[in-house]
Amino acid sequence: MRVLIVGSGGREHAIANALARSPQRPELLAAPGNPGIGAVARCFPTPVDDLDGLVALARGEAVDLVVIGPEAPLVAGLADRLEAAGIAHFGPSAAAAQMEGSKAFAKEVMSSAGVPTADWAEVTSVDEGMEAIDGRYPTVIKFDGLAAGKGVVVAPDAATARAALTEMIEARRFGDGPVVVEDFLAGEELSLFAICDGERAVPMVPAQDYKRIFDGDEGPNTGGMGAYSPVVGAPDVDDLVAQIHQPVVDLLRERGTPFHGVLYAGLMLTDDGAQVIEFNARFGDPETQVVLPRLRSDLLETLVAATRPGGLASCAPMAFGDDWAVSVVLASAGYPQSSSSGDVITGLEDAARAGAEVIHAGTARDAAGAVVTAGGRVLNVTALGPDPAAARERAYAAADLIQFEGRQLRRDIAQRAVERVTP
Ligand code: AMP
Ligand code: GLY
Repeated sequence: MRVLIVGSGGREHAIANALARSPQRPELLAAPGNPGIGAVARCFPTPVDDLDGLVALARGEAVDLVVIGPEAPLVAGLADRLEAAGIAHFGPSAAAAQMEGSKAFAKEVMSSAGVPTADWAEVTSVDEGMEAIDGRYPTVIKFDGLAAGKGVVVAPDAATARAALTEMIEARRFGDGPVVVEDFLAGEELSLFAICDGERAVPMVPAQDYKRIFDGDEGPNTGGMGAYSPVVGAPDVDDLVAQIHQPVVDLLRERGTPFHGVLYAGLMLTDDGAQVIEFNARFGDPETQVVLPRLRSDLLETLVAATRPGGLASCAPMAFGDDWAVSVVLASAGYPQSSSSGDVITGLEDAARAGAEVIHAGTARDAAGAVVTAGGRVLNVTALGPDPAAARERAYAAADLIQFEGRQLRRDIAQRAVERVTP
C-alpha cells in the first residue's frame, strides 16, 4: 500500500512514524515533507497549497491513500479534488472542514446540534461587537476564518476589545470576514481527537498542550511549546465524544456533508462541564506527537476505514498503551515574534539513542547536508514512560542533548501531571 502524507511539520512527521510502524508495511511518500520525514518517506517538493500538483502527484505515483495533515489544503478543497479523481483520502471535504474554516459556521452547528459552547454573536462592525459584549469582561474576540492561530484575542477590558475588533474588522488584519464575539470560559483546557467515518466518531486519548512561550504560561501565544498525554482528571472520553463530537458528525451527515477525518475538539473543562473552545478538522500540533506514540493498534487500518461511510464499525478498534507521553518543543531564536533559519543542529542522533522520538517540525538541510533550523518550532522531542515523571525526565534528558544557536524550550511541560500523579 502506498500512502502520501501532505504537510511538512511535526504533526506530519509523527503521522509518518506511526504509519511506518504499521504491520502492513506501507510505502510512504510525503509532500513536501522535511528532513525527518525523509528518513521514513520519499519526499516530493510539491507545496501544500498546490492542489493540482498534489492530485497529479497522487495519480502519477499510483497512491492508494492520501493523508492530509494541515487545515489550509482541507479548507481549500484538496479532499474534494482527490474524491473527484477517485483517490482515497483521509481528511474532510471543504464543506465539512468549515468546522475549522469558519468560527461562525462551527458555532451555528454547535447551537443546532446542542453541543456545549460559550454564548456567542457574529458581528460585522466595531459598534455591533461592543454592543454584543455589553460590558462583560474578560471577553473573547475571534476572526471567523483561518488565521494561523493568531485570530483569537482574550480581552480583559473594553479598550483591548475595541482595539481587537478594529484590527480585525476595519484594518482587515486577516482579510475580509465577520468576527465572532463569545463569552470567556474559565477552566483547564483539554484536546480530544476523534476519528470519524462520516457516521461515527471514535475517541483517541486526551492530551494537553502548552500554548505560551515561557514557563508558568507567561508570554505570548505560540503554535504550542509542548504536550503530554493522558490528562489526570479528564472526563471519560466516551462520554465526551457522545456529548461533543458525535452530535456534530450526526448533524453534518444529515446535512449531506459527512465528516471523514479527525475532528479535534479544543475543550475547556469548566465548573459546568466540558465546553467547546474550537473545533479543528485535522490532527492537532503538538498533541499528535504525544497521542500517536501511545497508539498500539494499526493507524493505517483506522485511517483507511474512516474513508468509507461507517467503515470504522468493521475495523479493529483503536488500542492505546497505558503509558505516558511527553513532548518538548525546541524553538528557534526570536520565536514567536520571528524565527531563525540556518542554525546548525547537533545531537539529533544522541537524543534518539537516549530513547526519544525526535520529530522534525521546522528543519532543512544546508548545502553541506547538515540539518539546520528552518522555522519557529524546530523539533519536538517525545518520550514515553510508565508514569509522567519518567516520561518527562526521558524527554528532557534527550532534549538537552540537542543544541543549536538561540534554542528555546519550556522547562515545565507535564510538570502539572507529575504533581498530580506523585503523592
Ligand atoms: P482557538 O484558536 O479558538 O483555540 O483559541 C486560542 C486560545 O484562546 C485557546 O486555546 C484558549 O486558550 C483561548 N480561548 C479561546 N476561546 C476562549 C474562550 N471562550 N474562553 C477562554 N479562553 C478562550
Ligand atoms: N494544538 C493546537 C492546534 O493544533 O491548533
